Amino acid sequence: MNAPQILPREESWTDHDYVRHASAQGAVVRDRHGIFITFSLKHMQQLVAPALTRQMETETMAIQGITSGPVFELFQNSMLFSNAPAHGRRRGPLARSFAVPLVRQLRPKLQQLARALIEDQLNNGEIDFRDRIGGQLAARTVAMVLGVPRADLPMVTRLVYSAIRALSVRSPQVLAEAADDLTALNSYVADLLEDHKSAGSHDFLGDYLKRAGLTGLDGIETRMQIVTLVLAGSDTTRGALTSTLSQLMQNRDQWELLCADTDRHIQGAISEGLRYDPVIGALIRVAAKDLVFEGVAIPEGSLIGPLVVAALRDPAVYEAPDRFDISRTDHPRWHPVFGAGEHRCLGEALARAELEEALTALCQLAPKTVLTGPPPQLRGLGATRSVSEMPCRLVA
Ligand code: HEM
Repeated sequence: MNAPQILPREESWTDHDYVRHASAQGAVVRDRHGIFITFSLKHMQQLVAPALTRQMETETMAIQGITSGPVFELFQNSMLFSNAPAHGRRRGPLARSFAVPLVRQLRPKLQQLARALIEDQLNNGEIDFRDRIGGQLAARTVAMVLGVPRADLPMVTRLVYSAIRALSVRSPQVLAEAADDLTALNSYVADLLEDHKSAGSHDFLGDYLKRAGLTGLDGIETRMQIVTLVLAGSDTTRGALTSTLSQLMQNRDQWELLCADTDRHIQGAISEGLRYDPVIGALIRVAAKDLVFEGVAIPEGSLIGPLVVAALRDPAVYEAPDRFDISRTDHPRWHPVFGAGEHRCLGEALARAELEEALTALCQLAPKTVLTGPPPQLRGLGATRSVSEMPCRLVA
């Protein structure tokens, strides 16, 4: 059977409205770009298996006629856009150093950073939470992991959020600017790695360099995994914190519950914030062979996009999925927002720690915080969704 093609999207629909309309047409539907999209959590988990699909490599670049330059280099060398055996070689050296012990060690610094950022903006009138708090916390945390000197933080933060635009569809002028900043970020990371190599340091980057050498990564691959880490860890956490606080502000009873007993509710608030209006739209893959999935024929080479936005409101998993409820007990053990399979997020523990410290500090220092404009809009059903500004006042 051929997949039903969905109706054109109405201008006024949110992504969740679109998902409701599209999923009513079948389990596997072709969107207006021809991508085969699915909606359930079960299908998302099945479709990332290497037996069925593979990660996109440089295909998106080829479609745009790009065959060289910094963005092409990133797609060609990053673990995120690679398949076995290169994927395992590239992920291995980071996977081992990037988990719970690192986060435990960073905790006190993370707490200090979150509190300092909030104290700085407390009772200061209207601010944009996304950039002033979320964006700063996310980029500075990754910079802290990498040992970026304090004086370089503003410059590195600016480069990160500019370079990240190179990964989505933008106007030629924005893409050119983003590519220049990606080049600058690349050389910054190259210098940082060189400094660590010559100093023989025993910190995160020093250990990584040793492991990368043992796994046989060449110079460009060694650098690109760090650039991937910087990009993958910034936009996502900035959006996740902004979306979570926005939901808490719009559901005031839930905010008050969290502030009244933060220790008890903090993990629930984080998981629900990551679920309700998530910062990831879909996991984009390529059919590894001709498939028949749920009775639908999917030719080899087709793009497949299991929608994370939809899986996180799968009624077979979550009771009353359209309700924002920090006390819900039906979150799966592996939160779907961090993906599934071989490419599942490496930074989950770090992202959760950032969210925990930021929300705890907000409850303690700024419990009377209010939105002062329309809540931020999360849009897009590609990989990372865009998050608009969030005007608010942080009030003690
Ligand atoms: C709330 C925040 C975050 C969310 C929702 C998130 C989500 C994801 C998802 C869905 C993937 C898999 C993409 C795919 O399969 O196509 C991924 C991969 C990845 N994430 Fe995260 N992420 C977050 C934060 C972070 C942080 C803080 C870091 C590190 C500093 C990080 C590093 C990575 C890396 C390196 C990969 C690539 C893994 C691979 O390809 O093997 N992420 N992330």
